Amino acid sequence: MIRLILLLFAFLLSGAVGAEEYWTRPLKPQGKAPAAWSDLEASLDPRSCGACHPDKLAEWSGSLHAKAFSPGLVGQLLTFSKEETQDCLDCHAPLAEQAAAFEAARKTGKAHLSEAQGLAAAGNSCGGCHLRGHQRFGPPQRSTGALGPIKGDLPHGGFTGDADFERSEFCAACHQFAADQAINGKPLENTVAEWRASPQAAAGQNCQSCHMPDRQHLWRGIHDPVTTAAGLTPKVSADHDKARFAVTSTGVGHAFPTYVTPKVILHAVLLDGANKPKQGTEATYVIQRRVEFDGSDWHEISDTRLLPGQSAAVEINWRDATRAKVWLEVQPDDFYHSVTYAQLRRDLPKAGAAARLIAEADSRTRSTIYTLFAAEIARPSASGDRP
Ligand code: HEC
Ligand code: HEC
Ligand code: HEC
Ligand code: HEC
Ligand code: HEC
Repeated sequence: MIRLILLLFAFLLSGAVGAEEYWTRPLKPQGKAPAAWSDLEASLDPRSCGACHPDKLAEWSGSLHAKAFSPGLVGQLLTFSKEETQDCLDCHAPLAEQAAAFEAARKTGKAHLSEAQGLAAAGNSCGGCHLRGHQRFGPPQRSTGALGPIKGDLPHGGFTGDADFERSEFCAACHQFAADQAINGKPLENTVAEWRASPQAAAGQNCQSCHMPDRQHLWRGIHDPVTTAAGLTPKVSADHDKARFAVTSTGVGHAFPTYVTPKVILHAVLLDGANKPKQGTEATYVIQRRVEFDGSDWHEISDTRLLPGQSAAVEINWRDATRAKVWLEVQPDDFYHSVTYAQLRRDLPKAGAAARLIAEADSRTRSTIYTLFAAEIARPSASGDRP
């Protein structure tokens, strides 16, 4: 069974598109920083960057990129070889110095403790995106729009302005798998391709416009209720026969949701005279791409995700009721709970550190569930005087 999980990820890995030279991985070690630099300038620790870029540090710290070296990842790495580990680190902690720190921790037997993991614990950190051979690369200079090497009297020898930082392709290294790894025509991660086909892309919006407005480092996605709500338009309606609850994808620049991991459920239930749900009347509609691994191949079971502009709805017949309640339930980490961690929890030795981390990760998948758009609907009278 662990083998199954390995195969799952080996499959994912072989599909990653690393076209841009900048993102060829594994990344090379940074090497020695120029002798004239202060310790602060030479440090790869995000907190050192934050001494001069405090806004970026504060934003990034709350993001999932900062949390990418998670219990769910480390619980699996503990059972992996160095090579298998590197495949995961390519996207979860890409600096060569992070791999070295994790392997050093492994030798001490404390790799499961974040305080022993050193720089690896920083996950998808500043350096992975901005540093190559200690040189800083970033978007065009904010104050001047300048590209190319910008020296002047700046810390860390200045930086190189690179227009790629403002393109969706920058994110593709970790958020898009290759077309030849498709299952029923679509790779498991197909976000950049979905975006290319979207009306939002045609209108000039890219990953950064929606996930890094004004260059903010928050990267809020489906784990953030406010972001998800902003991408959807709910609509409730009713006639004398039934109530209807629909959501339309109006502000998501790719499939909603883009991955196979979330599960989104439209709910409707009739209410009794005391405004309590009536047992056995609930109706649901699930938005999700469901895939399964049969031991040798992946199959798509169904795909009800919403492409930009598409809607999904749940309907409920009034029967003898006069009120109904509707809501949208979002489970961002359903696949990890139902498949990945369920299998690992069965297979890992119960008393070990790996099993403890996976149990922690699994309980986190339950705490990320939330609801949106809860509303009550009254049954219009038969005469047709609708509200
Ligand atoms: C001693 C202060 C200091 C430290 C430490 C520092 N920086 Fe900078 N950084 C600056 C200054 C000042 C600029 C120039 C800003 C400008 O002119 O637009 C800059 C520019 C940059 C840019 C280019 C911004 C752009 O407009 O494209 C990036 C990217 C960057 N730093 C990343 C980092 C990272 C990552 C770290 C840590 C590994 C770091 N810096 C550490 C002071 C610092
Ligand atoms: C080095 C790999 C890497 C790069 C480059 C990268 N990401 Fe990510 N991203 C990840 C990983 C890994 C996660 C999941 C972290 C976790 O939860 O453990 C993630 C999570 C996210 C999330 C949160 C999703 C959610 O479930 O809520 C968003 C949004 C996101 N990334 C957007 C971007 C954008 C936009 C870019 C380009 C500017 C980008 N990422 C570049 C690896 C990367
Ligand atoms: C090509 C980039 C890439 C590679 C390689 C990769 N991941 Fe991820 N991983 C992601 C992204 C992006 C997400 C966020 C997707 C989501 O929201 O679920 C993620 C999410 C996760 C999560 C759920 C969030 C968390 O951190 O708890 C786990 C666990 C995970 N990956 C484990 C692994 C393991 C184990 C490997 C190696 C076998 C691996 N990943 C390899 C990109 C990658
Ligand atoms: C997942 C990749 C990624 C990570 C991690 C990351 N950045 Fe960035 N950063 C970017 C991208 C992409 C841009 C350009 C966004 C744009 O122009 O829309 C950027 C822009 C910047 C800028 C220019 C900001 C401005 O306002 O002009 C600075 C400075 C910077 N980052 C520093 C940091 C620091 C410090 C950290 C860690 C605390 C960090 N970055 C982590 C991808 C990343
Ligand atoms: C027009 C705005 C918009 C654009 C453009 C956009 N996103 Fe999103 N993205 C959203 C919204 C809203 C959500 C939350 C709803 C959802 O999960 O689909 C989201 C969610 C996500 C998630 C969470 C995981 C999931 O399964 O949905 C990731 C990862 C992500 N986006 C990455 C990207 C990347 C990479 C790009 C560029 C190729 C991109 N997004 C372009 C608006 C956008």
